[in-house]
Amino acid sequence: MKIRLPFILLFAVVSFFLFVTPASQSQNPRNVEQRVNALLAQMTLEEKLGQLQQLDGEGNGNFRPEHLDLIRKGLLGSTLNVRGAQRTNQVQRVAVNESRLKIPVLFGFDVIHGYRTIFPIPLGEASSWDPSLAEHSAAVAAQEANNAGLRWTFAPMVDIARDPRWGRISEGAGEDPFLGAAFARARVRGFQGNDYSAADKIVSCAKHFVAYGAAEGGRDYNTTDLSENTLREIYFPPFKAAVDAGVGTLMSSFNAINGVPASANPFTLTKVLRQEWKFDGFVVSDYTAVKELINHGVAANEEEAAAAALNAGVDMEMVSRSFNQFGPQLLKQKKLSTATIDEAVRRILRIKFRLGLFDNPYTDESREPTSLLRPESIRLAREIAGRSMVLLKNDREALPLRKDLGSMAVIGPLADDRRAPLGWWAGDGKPENTVTPLAGIKEKVSAQTKVGYAKGCDVTGNSTAGFQEAVDLAKASDVAIVFVGEIADMVGEAASHASLDLPGRQMELVQAIHATGKPTIVVLVNGRPMSVSWIVDNVPAILESWMGGTQSGNAIADILFGDVNPGAKLPVSFPRTVGQVPIYYNHMNTGRPPDAGNRYNSKYFDVPWTPLFPFGYGLSYTTFKISNLQLSAPRISANGRVTVSVEVENTGKRAGDEVVQLYIRDLVATMTRPVKELKGFQRVSLQPGEKRRVEFVLGPEHLGFWNREMKYVVEPGEFRVMVGANSVDVIEGTFQVNQ
Ligand code: NOJ
Repeated sequence: MKIRLPFILLFAVVSFFLFVTPASQSQNPRNVEQRVNALLAQMTLEEKLGQLQQLDGEGNGNFRPEHLDLIRKGLLGSTLNVRGAQRTNQVQRVAVNESRLKIPVLFGFDVIHGYRTIFPIPLGEASSWDPSLAEHSAAVAAQEANNAGLRWTFAPMVDIARDPRWGRISEGAGEDPFLGAAFARARVRGFQGNDYSAADKIVSCAKHFVAYGAAEGGRDYNTTDLSENTLREIYFPPFKAAVDAGVGTLMSSFNAINGVPASANPFTLTKVLRQEWKFDGFVVSDYTAVKELINHGVAANEEEAAAAALNAGVDMEMVSRSFNQFGPQLLKQKKLSTATIDEAVRRILRIKFRLGLFDNPYTDESREPTSLLRPESIRLAREIAGRSMVLLKNDREALPLRKDLGSMAVIGPLADDRRAPLGWWAGDGKPENTVTPLAGIKEKVSAQTKVGYAKGCDVTGNSTAGFQEAVDLAKASDVAIVFVGEIADMVGEAASHASLDLPGRQMELVQAIHATGKPTIVVLVNGRPMSVSWIVDNVPAILESWMGGTQSGNAIADILFGDVNPGAKLPVSFPRTVGQVPIYYNHMNTGRPPDAGNRYNSKYFDVPWTPLFPFGYGLSYTTFKISNLQLSAPRISANGRVTVSVEVENTGKRAGDEVVQLYIRDLVATMTRPVKELKGFQRVSLQPGEKRRVEFVLGPEHLGFWNREMKYVVEPGEFRVMVGANSVDVIEGTFQVNQ
């Protein structure tokens, strides 16, 4: 057959417009709005309410067969936990081929710190003080998740947490809004890139909006009572940063805020989020949070719950079905308007169009197996884990260890546990892919080194039956490394603890090993600050490894044997005892600041007021000196900028990283201000003897606060700047903001 050139050209042009242009045009904002409105105009009320519904899968990534019929009828817009390219395609085919309007299903999942390649828990990653690492790990997670059919992650979790009793402290970036905002931004960028319709990206969800981390008593789901200032200055900033970074969705939280549940809160969901921040994506409720408005006591039944949530600004309901079931009668009774429903649908469709779901609803099934656990992803997981572990103590250079020691005792319930390092939200991570500390150490030491292992005890329970074996092993070895902490079940959701002590008999195990007189090193594997004062007082070296992910054991070995020089810093204060909670560095001063010599001051009778380890703290195998603080100007105007710089020098013998931290204090203002607020940080790598000047610029976005009239203002007066290696050891300077 002879094909003529003009025909080929015509074919090329037509296919370009058919196959190339529509996909890219669908991201064009004007086209998205047109397509959303055109589709909305065709939808019945039932189909609209269907888009507002998200239901859970069956477990293990499977869908519920009965959901296919809902999808066929246009009554289900999204699922959670259904995953795997084959399964999501199977479901999607029903939506695209068998439903009247062919609206694709949006598949969501908790891809928190990795999908199959698991990275350190977010609290660990935040300890790196290097947001670019979180961007990289989120990008790997997005690529793996997308290839497994997912288009939406319920991450980043950006809740500020000042209470380590709250198990979900492990899922966020710790206690500080500035650090939290930096990690929120980075994670959103990592998951979404510039265009989340790309084949290796997914849309992200900043959660849990808002103040979920302020749960009273650290008890999960509990109520919160906070001033608007505290909301705006402490709890909002990471969400605002996520919105500014283009996050597509937010999740409304379980808790009540000052008497109004967050999932029915017009102030947070509409006034702040939509009107002030101009967010145009959609809000999904947390799991059954709409129905739970009944338990909160602000709705008498599901009908009232649906009206309260939708009218406040929740668009999609996770798992409970109040919107769906009661929407029609609420409309009839005029307790809900068509405009409100349409707006919720519009927001959801907007994200589906931006995702390119209509143009590209399926996942290429051939790519899934090769996309998981790629060598470069595993390498990155090891690097990030190494950069996230905090050296808490290292007396007389107990660490690093020599690789050619004669014998080592690897002890403790977490020394060879494959599950704990994956944390609570392990995505689709598999314990069989975890490198345990025991495996990492064996891989690292010389062929002659004898590595013995004894579990000693479990993390939970009362048995000390294994102590003797562990003690004997320690006695017969040159050094003992003890791995203690928490199992995955003890952190994350619904894992609040009233005690921050090591669970079970673990502390006694450490004491028994220490009593052998052998050099003892403790490695903590855990998801929250723990009060381990005895260990700090007695054991020469402590490494906080957090829950380090798939490559945790290799990363720990890299540090223990000096191939990686630790440089991470705590993103949260460690209390000496749970009774000090809440303890956080950016507190107000009080009229009677702590003073050891004076009884009538703000402190405790029985323990020091200071934390066990302060915010920003962490050691290195080298030493650093921070000196010579300079300011570009002694005075600036209220909208002016000042550059603060210091010299940082590696004064030790190894290359290493220092995290230079800048804090400010507004000394006199119309409201009490924190004694310190983090406003800048840089993690710098320096060779031995190398010295570098590090600069920070402060402007109105750093210097202001929300005043009594709830206006953001920079007030004139004196500001103190403090720069150091943690929130306590700082050098200082001052500058003025002019009238
Ligand atoms: C409840 C949790 O609070 C939330 O973080 C999570 O995304 C949803 N369940 C879905 O699994």
